[in-house]
Amino acid sequence: MSIIFDEENKLFYIHTKSTTYVLGFMHEYLVHCYWGKSIKKLPCTDFAVPHKSRSQSPYNPEHPECQNDNLPMEYPTFGSSDLRSPAFHVIYADGTSVSDFCYVSHEITAGKPKLEGLPCIRASEDGGETLKICLADEKTGLTLSLLYSVLNDKDIITRSVEVENRGTNDVRIDRILSASVDIYGMDFDFVTLHGTSIRERSVQKNPLFFGSQTIDSKRGYSGHRLNPFACLASKNATETSGEVYAMNFVYSGNFLAGADVDPFKMTRFYMGINPFDFEWKLCPGEKFVSPEVVMVYSDEGYGKMSRTFHDAYRENLCRSKFALKPRPVLINNWETTAMDFDEEKIVDIAKKAAEIGVELMVLDDGWFGNRNSDNCSLGDWYADTNKLPSGLSGLAKKINALGLEFGLWFEPEMVSPDSDLYRMHPDWCIHVPGRIRSEGRNQLILDFANEEVCDYITDAVSKILCEANISYVKWDMNRNMSETGSSALGSDRQRETAHRYMLGLYRVLETLTTQFPDILFESCASGGGRFDAGMLYYMPQVWTSDNSDAGQRMKIQYGTSFAYPASSMGAHVSAVPNHQVFRTTPFKTRCDVAMNGQFGFELDLAKISDEELKLAKEGIEKYKSLRDTVHFGDMYRLMSPFDGNDSVIEYISKDKKQVVVFRGNTLAEPYGAYKFAKLCALEPDAVYEDCEKGISMTGEALMNVGIAFMSPKDFESEIYVFEKK
Ligand code: GLA
Repeated sequence: MSIIFDEENKLFYIHTKSTTYVLGFMHEYLVHCYWGKSIKKLPCTDFAVPHKSRSQSPYNPEHPECQNDNLPMEYPTFGSSDLRSPAFHVIYADGTSVSDFCYVSHEITAGKPKLEGLPCIRASEDGGETLKICLADEKTGLTLSLLYSVLNDKDIITRSVEVENRGTNDVRIDRILSASVDIYGMDFDFVTLHGTSIRERSVQKNPLFFGSQTIDSKRGYSGHRLNPFACLASKNATETSGEVYAMNFVYSGNFLAGADVDPFKMTRFYMGINPFDFEWKLCPGEKFVSPEVVMVYSDEGYGKMSRTFHDAYRENLCRSKFALKPRPVLINNWETTAMDFDEEKIVDIAKKAAEIGVELMVLDDGWFGNRNSDNCSLGDWYADTNKLPSGLSGLAKKINALGLEFGLWFEPEMVSPDSDLYRMHPDWCIHVPGRIRSEGRNQLILDFANEEVCDYITDAVSKILCEANISYVKWDMNRNMSETGSSALGSDRQRETAHRYMLGLYRVLETLTTQFPDILFESCASGGGRFDAGMLYYMPQVWTSDNSDAGQRMKIQYGTSFAYPASSMGAHVSAVPNHQVFRTTPFKTRCDVAMNGQFGFELDLAKISDEELKLAKEGIEKYKSLRDTVHFGDMYRLMSPFDGNDSVIEYISKDKKQVVVFRGNTLAEPYGAYKFAKLCALEPDAVYEDCEKGISMTGEALMNVGIAFMSPKDFESEIYVFEKK
């Protein structure tokens, strides 16, 4: 890892463990030169040559090479003749929006600075380097600082941008992307994760075409529909081969990512805050910092890309003390009781759970205010003593006495119109005066762009967390942001609401997770609607989806693993017929699938058969023996449920001693032939043994012949646990 400025050729080399990123100059403009496998020196400096286009005259006649519209620009801004999508666009006090950002200076410093008020990757104590390149628009005094950081032992580059108004007039930023890269060629697929509630993160691959292909969220949060992850993958890319250029956003709000191809087959790949309905007024002396994009290049297909994200997120993003620790096996009452429970019912569930080795009892929605249905009480964060006569602390004591930890559900960002909080502060929700306040699940969103609201909620949650012995919090968020506006902001700042909301949320999370470092926080948004790196910074795991049907979960977890590690995915065994898709799958399969994430139960243990109870108990024991490898090892996806009926995933512990293989299928293939799951990254001559199954094979055989299997029955699964001898 190092960042070097080659004085002679005026090139910046940004080296990670096995990749290099190079940028240089075309006179005073920054141009992109290379992103790929490690290279010590570019063979020549001509990587950034303008296309031979007759349509363009140079921006500045003194420098005919500065045909900015045809050059691979490093951070395209509007106004200096690059007419493709800019990364930055600003409106000055005189109403114009033409800028001319030229190089001023740069510095390379040790470490990686924190981004004020935003989640971001951190360098471990002994490493990391940051390049800051300062550009300025001479006429207005606006400066842009491009930040690039690398870490000692990881293959990621992080990027963000800082704008400072050193002029004398206010400006309005209406587009500030965090990263943009111009890559020669268009023989790529644009690969993204799409979905909806209970069908999150399916993998889609679309060939690039002349023009623009974008994904975004305008919903006030990252959302179920499209994840803030995108990559360009060479046409032949597989799990183990081909080039992949990936970006993932460390942000949980509105985002935009895209790939635009110009007529000369140059692809502009970018990511940042969604410019749609965004504006930021920047007064003289003020700064604005964009959220961070994590960039990964892999020359070994999607698999290496994912492992690079996984390592970085586990070790350098999630900052909870639980990030690298085994987490408790939990039981959640939601699918068993919904809001119809009392203390006795919850204690009964916990008792049964304790018998099979569950470690944490989570009380979900319905414990506060008068919450007997989803039409009231959000915002009234005090325990309902009709349901819980001895309060939360009394309940927690009873749960603890059974040997279980106690966890609690909250939805702190919301308010029900039927709540004391709303009656007291009708202006504390996101709304536009005089317009409809449309409800989603009978609720409105609290205005976290308003500091007073943030302080109130921080206090309310904090009081509850101090009141009882709570070891875990499920932090939910269940609706889109609509009629976006804040009564705390003036008319000149209304379009800042959505981003200010995120900054407010991050401040609340910063305070609470710092105040309660011993609480394990899990984020949730109607299942996996906010599964992003921004939330992972504060909370090391996410409720992956409200859909825990084993068949669907194979796909959801597979897609999610493109960017996020297994340690971040909450995965539970739920009842059948499944509540979301009404399908019945075997108990064992539900257990095996859930073992690919943070394992737990979401069903009434009193209603399952003795045989299933036995499987649950054995499942917990098995899970405890393999969870370190699944969560903290290296993941290799061997067969994709998006390509056929089978899903096969291999996990190897970092010390290479344990290998866990999950295999599951959806529909049966009668009279099918054997299929072979060929493992990866084993030692050819070592012997690997799965004692339980009586299998002993060499690494060579497991990699070249593979594990033979058939799928003669619907929704079957198997987990192999090999120990290296
Ligand atoms: C959301 C969550 C569920 C559950 C309910 C409670 O839908 O995704 O897991 O907590 O809210 O209302």
